[in-house]
Amino acid sequence: MKEKIIIFDTTLRDGEQALQSSLNTQEKIEIALALEDMHIDIIEAGFPISSPGDFKSVQEICKKIKNSTICSLARCIDKDIEIAAQAMSQLKNFRIHLFLGTSKLHIESKLKKNFQEIKDMAIRSIKYAKKYTDDIEFSCEDAGRTSIDNLCAIVETLIKNGVKTINIPDTVGYTIPNEFSKIISELFIRVPNIDQAIISVHCHNDLGMAVGNSICAIQSGARQIEGTITGIGERAGNTALEEVIMAIKTRKKMLNFFTNIKHHKIYKTSKIISKICNISIPINKAIIGSNAFSHSSGIHQDGIIKNRKNYEIMSPKDIGLKNIKFNLTSRSGRAAVKNRMQEMGYTEKDYNLKTLYKKFLKLADRKGQIFDYDLQMLAFIKNYSKKNLHIILKNISFSSQSLNQINICIQLFYNNIIHKAKIHTKNGIVNGIYKSLQKITKINFLLKKFKIKSIKKNKKIWEKVYIIAKYKNEIFYGKNTSQDIIQAFTQSMIDILNNIIQFNEIKKKIKNN
Ligand code: KIV
Ligand code: ZN
Repeated sequence: MKEKIIIFDTTLRDGEQALQSSLNTQEKIEIALALEDMHIDIIEAGFPISSPGDFKSVQEICKKIKNSTICSLARCIDKDIEIAAQAMSQLKNFRIHLFLGTSKLHIESKLKKNFQEIKDMAIRSIKYAKKYTDDIEFSCEDAGRTSIDNLCAIVETLIKNGVKTINIPDTVGYTIPNEFSKIISELFIRVPNIDQAIISVHCHNDLGMAVGNSICAIQSGARQIEGTITGIGERAGNTALEEVIMAIKTRKKMLNFFTNIKHHKIYKTSKIISKICNISIPINKAIIGSNAFSHSSGIHQDGIIKNRKNYEIMSPKDIGLKNIKFNLTSRSGRAAVKNRMQEMGYTEKDYNLKTLYKKFLKLADRKGQIFDYDLQMLAFIKNYSKKNLHIILKNISFSSQSLNQINICIQLFYNNIIHKAKIHTKNGIVNGIYKSLQKITKINFLLKKFKIKSIKKNKKIWEKVYIIAKYKNEIFYGKNTSQDIIQAFTQSMIDILNNIIQFNEIKKKIKNN
């Protein structure tokens, strides 16, 4: 029978430690609600002694979360334990998570004690914490570098004193999978009362082993995995829970475990966390990266069209994504082009695939990425050339009395005449540029995202602006590089407007055809 793996999320504690600026209570509540919504078993809400703000956040989270167990971190110090318990006091059941270094290095150089003193300190704190709750987790900090004899001895003592969950952290991400797995197996062989506690693991990713170590640990007997969605955490981060959850699901026959997690909420939760924590997810990040389910090469796209299983071990739907369209580039083959035309409702009777593919390759080499409207245009409109510059920037100037009093004057060549717009804005220069372009063109698009990158070339600084916008449910991209950031922004937005005008023209032509 499959056994359950308990999922413990520490985004709000270990994850938060790693952020450049701390989260406010509202942001933490939003993350906690998303974690609860995906059925995370235990949410580590914070380290209440660390700041009054953290204490308040834990209190507020306790008011909102109904189904996940709430846990707070505390050192083996009475005051830490009291404050942790106080922060969660409105709950009937809560967990206190105690931690103490057990490696020789931590004991001697950090805590300036000996091993016996560490054991005594642990026992004292457990007794104290038991005044508040029965649900105590104890972390043997730096367990990955603790001698196995000492680790077995302290784990036995902790269990004897009533600890229900023993956490074995690889605090500095030092171990490799078979080594970490051996530590867990040894505990199961050598600690006589091991069956009276749940063994948990908490792996850091300094050598990129966190997920591998966690999976090996459950194969050796651990039944709780700690980590964070997206993998944020101290230094190189914690175990990425989305990877663990999907590995357990995808390899269920091999691993023989299950989790209670609603995996189709993974994508949504990762988006919430990355937005609130202001961390970007690398495009190739397993499970949640934007490339994780996209297929680029012609051979792969063709294989997927024939049978998705050829190149997909899980479905994007499993993490809450819709089926992802192929990215059409010069690497895409005929099959991908034909497939996209089919998805748009055209059969080969409507167009000539051979001619279309030839034109497609030419345009893709020039343009990089080909959109649906490009394909339609190539298929049905003669002499389609990518860029018709409907709008050309003639001039832009601005003046400001203060940061929130900006005047912008813009001149555009549009519809064969020069248009001028003057805008006064209190909402910043980007908003002002957007408003003045809108005033002339009457095109309303939604600014979804923009990125600015400064690059040094020939001893000069260049500003590269990249914008993503939405218009009538289609995504448009605009980019420009200039030494002047205002110029780069304006030109990128004009790039988007030119693409939108072209898109509207194509739609009209196709309709009239
Ligand atoms: O990495 C670590 O050892 C920790 C403990 C507090 C569990 O975060
Ligand atoms: Zn940690």
